[in-house]
Amino acid sequence: MNSSRSVSVIGLGRVGLPLALSFADHGLRVLGVDHDAGVLAALGAGRMPFAETGTQELLDRVLPTGRLELAERAADAARADDIVITIGTPSFSHIESDLRQVRAAVDDLLPMLRPGHALILRSTIAPGTTEFVAGYLEKRRGLRVGEDLFVAHAPERIAAGRFLEEISTLPCIIGGVDEASSERAASTFALFGAPIVRTTPVQAELAKIWTNILRYTTFALPNLLMMDCERYGANVFEVIDLINRDYPRGGIASPGMTAGTCLRKDFAFSEERSNAPGMLLAVSRVNESVPLFLVEGIKRRVGNLGSRKVAVLGLTFKRDTDDERDSLAPKLIRLLERELADVAVCDPHAPSPTQPLEQAVQDAGVVIVATNHSEFEGPAILSEIVSRAAGDSLLVDPWNALGTGQLFAFSAEAAALSPGAVQAPARPEMT
Ligand SMILES: NC(=O)c1ccc[n+]([C@@H]2O[C@H](COP(=O)([O-])OP(=O)(O)OC[C@H]3O[C@@H](n4cnc5c(N)ncnc54)[C@H](O)[C@@H]3O)[C@@H](O)[C@H]2O)c1
Repeated sequence: MNSSRSVSVIGLGRVGLPLALSFADHGLRVLGVDHDAGVLAALGAGRMPFAETGTQELLDRVLPTGRLELAERAADAARADDIVITIGTPSFSHIESDLRQVRAAVDDLLPMLRPGHALILRSTIAPGTTEFVAGYLEKRRGLRVGEDLFVAHAPERIAAGRFLEEISTLPCIIGGVDEASSERAASTFALFGAPIVRTTPVQAELAKIWTNILRYTTFALPNLLMMDCERYGANVFEVIDLINRDYPRGGIASPGMTAGTCLRKDFAFSEERSNAPGMLLAVSRVNESVPLFLVEGIKRRVGNLGSRKVAVLGLTFKRDTDDERDSLAPKLIRLLERELADVAVCDPHAPSPTQPLEQAVQDAGVVIVATNHSEFEGPAILSEIVSRAAGDSLLVDPWNALGTGQLFAFSAEAAALSPGAVQAPARPEMT
């Protein structure tokens, strides 16, 4: 680390690693820190530990430059001027943000901090956390924030799979604890070329978590509508088409298994101090009850699931990703297993071992599209499923990936329907 500008990134996960590679690709000397030996081993071997569009090529390009060094202790990060924190910030199950990883990293760093350091929190954090970290550093080290040390929040809002596209286009929110901290963090992130939007730390924190709350709520509404339609014997895709068609004042999204590592927990960062306690919990309960709603709907149509083969297509939390964290598919599988069903799973993207499609759907009495991967879309896959599954199999497709326009359809009926008879509205993707 001897060039004029260096940056450390603590936490080489789905946010931190693409960021570290991008800094290095823009000419900075980067120290990537992660305490997971598996992550460091993969990178040392020149291999991305997860799929993110374009990043394997980026790693191949960056490694030979020698601008990316790796280390395992957060304290090592103090070798660089700018320290970006991209570690996990889960929530406790009792509606409270869990800051233990952030506290642990900051505690490791504390003795190493020196005047001139900037600490930039890139992780998603509850309102007030940046000010807490600044106060904690001042209290524990006696360094003056804004003079000796600079502290800012620069939230990550990029969607999985789009990092390299959005790092240079998505407005980069910078909330410094003071002017000098904002200036410092802005100068670090400015090299990517995206517009920099300066604000206060708490506004940056609120903007990030409410970006996700908006999306989580946006998807809860069609999921609730899907449940209402089942009650009234209505077709949710037709109702959505009636709502959206040529309507000039916005539209409703499509139903689906809404979850993922951000959407599933970030609402709790607001809910822990909410003025309307329970409102976002209700949103979460709608999304979280989709698997049970599907299982109940299946049982109403085919009866007892005991010893019946059920094929679940998709294990990851969203389309075309290999990220299984906080997916609702495992919950769906557990619920099916509690009905004593024989569950077969197929996911061409998931790192967990699953079966090929032909094997998973062979003789299945029920086939559920749990993730709308591109491999599960369209008439060809519908024909494959219908030809291999049991004669009277039930197809369950909350995404309308197969294009039958039916949430629940018996295979004979599904095959007779012209694919795409009811057009599903374009669904915005989950983060
Ligand atoms: N994944 C996303 O798409 C996404 C998008 C926007 C924001 N975020 C937020 O960004 C943050 C990181 O998310 P992620 O998905 O990259 O998490 P992740 O779990 O994939 O990565 C975190 C990494 O930090 C490492 N780590 C944790 N504590 C450490 C420590 N003390 N020292 C060294 N390494 C440590 C872990 O080993 C892990 O590799 C979270 O706050 C998340 O909410 C994630």
